Amino acid sequence: MAKKVTVTTLQQMKDAGEKITMLTAYDYSTAKLEDEAGVDTILVGDSLGNVMLGYENTIPVTVDNMITYGGSVVRGAKRALVVVDMPFMSYQASVYDAVVNAGRIMKETGCDAVKLEGGVKMAPVIDAITNASIPVIAHIGLTPQSINIFGGHKVQGKTEAAAKQLIEDAKAVEAAGASAIVIEGVPAPIAKLATQAVHIPTIGIGAGSDCDGQVLVYQDVLGMFTDFTPKFVKRYADCGTIMRAAFADYIKEVKEVSFPEEKHCYTIAEDVIEKLY
Ligand code: KIV
Repeated sequence: MAKKVTVTTLQQMKDAGEKITMLTAYDYSTAKLEDEAGVDTILVGDSLGNVMLGYENTIPVTVDNMITYGGSVVRGAKRALVVVDMPFMSYQASVYDAVVNAGRIMKETGCDAVKLEGGVKMAPVIDAITNASIPVIAHIGLTPQSINIFGGHKVQGKTEAAAKQLIEDAKAVEAAGASAIVIEGVPAPIAKLATQAVHIPTIGIGAGSDCDGQVLVYQDVLGMFTDFTPKFVKRYADCGTIMRAAFADYIKEVKEVSFPEEKHCYTIAEDVIEKLY
């Protein structure tokens, strides 16, 4: 079996100049397929609020949601590093809450690391969680849990002050002990500067090709989620169309009784049947 990816492996990949791949997954079967395809890390993102639970944003997602989906992904992924998101208000109110919730997520899912949103302001939280021996991936730039402060899903780091802040955020989370940084929704040259400013790996989403790795939401990759499609998404397959057609075929065949066929049915000895009449 291929060797399990750890946060140390990610650092070695950055040091060797090898790009890191990350995809989201939220269930056992998808995690297994991604793992078999060879993805390095699987993120159980709180984007599950959008793509699995149908919320408008990630704000309503709970720790219990993350634990249910996170555990199923861990059971499906044998090689990939599994990172589980800490949802909104599971780490912002106090350092104590943050450590307790990170501990719950790790103990109850078996994940390899947690991810939380925020830079300089979250440094004490990252420090405390890593001191509890839980690896942390930081997430900076367009952090979806802050959309109510940003006024929507808006590209970050576009002014001189905002760009400097992003680089400070990257340095602060590294100093606090983060193992890697997700950089979302910032101009590519700023993500490049942030990547050059730290030693730990950066994983971009809508942040250009100079990050040390890339992450996408798998339903976007497969064309299964069309409520909104950010500019940075690349669709690698149109599974939405394939799924809709397969569901329609199934519905048609059940209605016209061409499914199930004999090969799908269990048999029983004729004499047993005769005794029933
Ligand atoms: O929740 C998520 O899926 C994420 C990625 C978009 C980075 O945080």
